[in-house]
Amino acid sequence: MSGPLPKPGILDIASYVPGRARIDGVARPLKLSANENPFGCSEAARDAYLAASSELHLYPDANTSRLRAAIAEKHKLEPERLVFGAGSDEIFALAAQAFLGPGDNAVQPQFGFAAWAIAVAATGAVMKSAPEHNFVVDVDTIIAAVDENTRVVFVANPANPTGTYLPFNEIERLHANLPSRVLLVLDGAYAECAIGLDSFSDGLNWSRDKKNVLVTRTFSKMYGLASLRIGWAYGPAEVVSALNRIRLPFSVPRAGEAAAVAALGDDAFVQLSVAACDHGRREIDTALRASGIQTLPSATNFVTARFDDAEGVTAALAQRDILIRHLRNYGMPDWLRISIGTPEDNQRVIAALGEVLRR
Ligand SMILES: Cc1ncc(COP(=O)(O)O)c(C=O)c1O
Repeated sequence: MSGPLPKPGILDIASYVPGRARIDGVARPLKLSANENPFGCSEAARDAYLAASSELHLYPDANTSRLRAAIAEKHKLEPERLVFGAGSDEIFALAAQAFLGPGDNAVQPQFGFAAWAIAVAATGAVMKSAPEHNFVVDVDTIIAAVDENTRVVFVANPANPTGTYLPFNEIERLHANLPSRVLLVLDGAYAECAIGLDSFSDGLNWSRDKKNVLVTRTFSKMYGLASLRIGWAYGPAEVVSALNRIRLPFSVPRAGEAAAVAALGDDAFVQLSVAACDHGRREIDTALRASGIQTLPSATNFVTARFDDAEGVTAALAQRDILIRHLRNYGMPDWLRISIGTPEDNQRVIAALGEVLRR
């Protein structure tokens, strides 16, 4: 007798592969594989989290009211147009569930963030991939891939795993060429790193009068709260209302919300993190290029670099207790992604790479 069968397509989905976190026998490897904040989080956020430990028996506020008000205030957004999730990952899943089904498709750039395709496939829809040019999102190929069955387009700016970004007028051009029935999900997981770069915008303000744009953000990267799983999105009332109907009511934990509110009030921590990442990224990038290694121009907290023996370099670094991300699963088998660490971490990975490359 056969057991319950998942819906068609579910068993074809390859599970998300997180950045490697462990090396057998090594208590604390240097983890540069998941683009986390090497400086931890704001002390105010940690204090708020600890203070919330007396309330572990209470359900979270299903409306995420305090964080909603704090984000609305900081970014000058209408609070009722925000939606929250267990990381921005949950928001992608909600958007896919609400707007896609069998027969529909979504479009992403060739090197899109892996969680999007999983969210799309889970609905029975198909993810189409739009070729990139030199590892930069190509608006023209996305527009060309959109057909009468397309319901959602995903773009991250800056992008993971390439680290590259598009000037904002390219995002505007993409939007201008999408039918109004297509939802543009603009993933700003790394936006904090790129604010201030030439022609970059996080699109929040621009999206205010758009009927089909959902801008997503996260506390996982520059705010250093990846383990608390807090993502949010700003979109049109109708889109947000659809997502809110199906979201799990308590997916943002109480202690997480408290920490995020405190983190939002500590601009100095974010600025310091961004400045240090910027510095570290230049150091690693310069060192790699001096060794003849090709790197992609990154606007994020990681460097993506091409190696003749990416597998071997990954293994050799692991022997030195350093974990980085091999981009095989992203269709970039010759490429490695190295998250920026503390200044000491960066020197350590530069020295280790130097040694490995000289061998
Ligand atoms: C482009 C991009 N979007 C979203 C996320 C997911 O972030 P969250 O932790 O908010 O789910 C990541 C995480 O690595 C990412 O790289």
